[in-house]
This record gives sequence, C-alpha cells and structure tokens, in this order.
Amino acid sequence: MAPYHIRKYQESDRKWVVRLLSQGMAEHIPATFWQLLKLPRTLILLLGGPLALLLVSGSWLLALMFSLSLLPALWFLAKKPWKDYVDTVLRTDMSDITKSYLSERDSCFWVAESEEKVVGMVGALPVDDPTLKEKQLQLFHLSVDSEHRRQGIAKALIRTVLQFARDHDCSAVVLDTSNIQLTALSLYQSMGFQKTGQSFSCMWARLVAHITIHFIYHLPSSQAGGL
Ligand SMILES: CC(C)(COP(=O)(O)OP(=O)(O)OC[C@H]1O[C@@H](n2cnc3c(N)ncnc32)[C@H](O)[C@@H]1OP(=O)(O)O)[C@@H](O)C(=O)NCCC(=O)NCCS
Repeated sequence: MAPYHIRKYQESDRKWVVRLLSQGMAEHIPATFWQLLKLPRTLILLLGGPLALLLVSGSWLLALMFSLSLLPALWFLAKKPWKDYVDTVLRTDMSDITKSYLSERDSCFWVAESEEKVVGMVGALPVDDPTLKEKQLQLFHLSVDSEHRRQGIAKALIRTVLQFARDHDCSAVVLDTSNIQLTALSLYQSMGFQKTGQSFSCMWARLVAHITIHFIYHLPSSQAGGL
C-alpha cells in the first residue's frame, strides 16, 4: 500500500480530478441498469411488450427484436442521471475549482496524492440557506481512484472536511448521495452521518428509481450546545 497525503487542490490537478469525477460516476451505470431491469414497470414492458407484439403480429422474430431493442434504451436511461450530473458540475462549481472552492476562507477543495498522482478528492462549500440558524458545510465530489480503494483514503478526506468545518465554527456537515452508491452509504453511516431524508433530483432519476439520500453529521460542539 503506497503512502498518500492530503493537500489543497492546485490547478495542475485538474485533469486528474475531472477523471476521478467522470470515472467515479460512470461506475454506477451498471448498478443503475440492473436496478432499472428489476423494476416492476420495466419487467412489464420487457415481457408484456413482446407478448402483445407476438399476439398481434404472430412473429417471434419481431417480438424478440422488440425485446432486444429495449435493452440499449434502458442502458441510455441508466446512464442519463450520471452523465447529466457530470456535465452539470463541469459547467458549474467544477468549471473553475479554484474560483468556486478556494477563493473564500469558508470553502475548500482537497486532493489525496500518492506517488505523484491524484488518487482522491473532496470539496466543501458553505450551505447557502438563509433560514439556517447556524453555519453548515456541504461535502461534495468525494471520489477515490479504483486502484486505491479500501485504504482509508475516503475516510481521511471526510475527516479533513469535518476538521475544516470545526475550525470554521460550523454546526454540521451535510451531503447528498444515492441509493445506488452502496459503498458511499455504508461509508457515511460508519462514520456517524445520519440520514435526514430523500428525494428525486429530476424526472430521469425518478424514472430509474435513482433516489438522492440526504445526510448530516452534527459536530460535537453543536450537539453539546443543544443539550
Ligand atoms: C465511496 C468511495 C469514495 C470509498 O473510497 P475508499 O477510499 O475505498 O473508502 P475507505 O477505504 O476510506 O473505506 C471506508 C469505509 O467505507 C466502506 N467501504 C469502502 N469500500 C467498501 C466496499 N467495497 N463495500 C462495502 N463497504 C465499503 C467501509 O465501511 C469502509 O470501512 P472499512 O474499510 O473499515 O470496512 C469510493 O468507493 C468511490 O470513489 N466511489 C465512486 C465515487 C462515489 O460514489 N463517491 C461517493 C460520492 S457521494
């Protein structure tokens, strides 16, 4: 296991960071596809569609071709929320990481570096909600290179965000993940994050049952204050 260290993002890291983002999201497409296949409405379409076609046309070939043509359509649906997410963040907060994350003192972006390669990343921005009574930080874009997983890099990146939040007098760290990201779910829960709710980010996500799950980590000082 090669050693790694965590440091602030530099502009020369950009190509690694974009790759980590794209690969980290693309790896969830197969799981989304299988989940989509198992949905009752998909099974009805996959079985009922060809059966109806067979009854109407009497052609097994047509029925089979219809079934097979549905699979690429389902793959497209499974891919869409992930691709849209990457496209959106590359146009918004990650279009200029230095400007978005490193120009104010209450936000930051870190990378984990190992053998002169960027193998992990995470960002943090203050939550922009005027109704909040206390400052909260939101964790974004946690990702670790597939060849460097299970070495505690994600945990170390999250601890870096938690410490940053403490140092900036935040009461909590919040984040969003999804029902497809089982590793991330287990990671956040094992670190003490608590689920606060769930929602669908868009119509496509609803169609493929891709549920956004919201988490919070209350920082000890705020818990103590609330007692
Ligand atoms: C989620 C992710 C960041 C974890 O990175 P990692 O560096 O491998 O995580 P760590 O080594 O710090 O693991 C910490 C804990 O996560 C959980 N975990 C990690 N990999 C796991 C796996 N394959 N299966 C189950 N739990 C897993 C465990 O609780 C683990 O603790 P343990 O090793 O003591 O059992 C990584 O899998 C990843 O980049 N995934 C793709 C991008 C993504 O989904 N990011 C989340 C954005 S919300």
